[in-house]
Amino acid sequence: MSKKQVYIYKGFERFWHWMQAILIFFLAFTGFEIHGTYSFFGYRDAVRYHNVAAYMLIGLIVFTIFWHLTTGEYKQYLPTLKNIKAQLDYYIFGIFRNAPHPTKKTVLSKLNPLQKLTYFGLKILVIPLSVTSGLLYMFYRYPSKQGVSAINIQSLEFIAIFHTVAAILLIVFIVTHLYLITTGETVTSNLKAMLTGYEELEDEDKAEKNVNEKNLSTQNLD
Ligand code: HEM
Repeated sequence: MSKKQVYIYKGFERFWHWMQAILIFFLAFTGFEIHGTYSFFGYRDAVRYHNVAAYMLIGLIVFTIFWHLTTGEYKQYLPTLKNIKAQLDYYIFGIFRNAPHPTKKTVLSKLNPLQKLTYFGLKILVIPLSVTSGLLYMFYRYPSKQGVSAINIQSLEFIAIFHTVAAILLIVFIVTHLYLITTGETVTSNLKAMLTGYEELEDEDKAEKNVNEKNLSTQNLD
């Protein structure tokens, strides 16, 4: 099957992806210092940096929602059950037997069904949970000087638990994501695609042409 270089990840998409990765790494790093897991910046600075990165992430999310809606790219993330079993079988068994990928990547369908489901869950559950609990935490602690009457110290405890659970879920996602990045056509092909925008994919025009030619020749035989 012939292959060609296809421009699959646009400029803004790559910028958003890497900015989000950096910010989430940084938020996790400063967040777990605030949690008391280790000491690096010192508590006060860790909180200060965590807040700055949090505002940057919120700004990025606003632009990204706008981009996804105006370009129609949000459709890539609408989950589907089609081929989900084939994709799971591939990750559990096929991948270790060098089986071919069960779904083909194209510009209009960049994500396999498991990616669609996972990213959809991140976008509508985990990231909103992290941002909302983070904002509640922030506004209870700082401008209000612990004076938002609707949030008492017990609810702050819940907020802290929700915020930490969301952080752990994000870290589990990142670890899995880092492994899955290496499972493309080659170990580095997915990473290169997110850096350059280009990925070597099946030449759809040629594939279509081949099918048409085959159909024609069978018609001629008839
Ligand atoms: C817009 C997003 C976010 C906001 C507004 C936010 C805000 C906050 C605030 C205000 C605190 C408490 C600081 C203090 O105790 O003085 C906190 C703690 C924390 N944050 Fe975030 N954060 C956000 C995103 C994240 C992300 C993405 C992660 C990790 C991936 C994270 C991990 C943590 C952790 C682990 C803690 C310590 C929780 C605890 O022990 O109670 N945060 N965050």
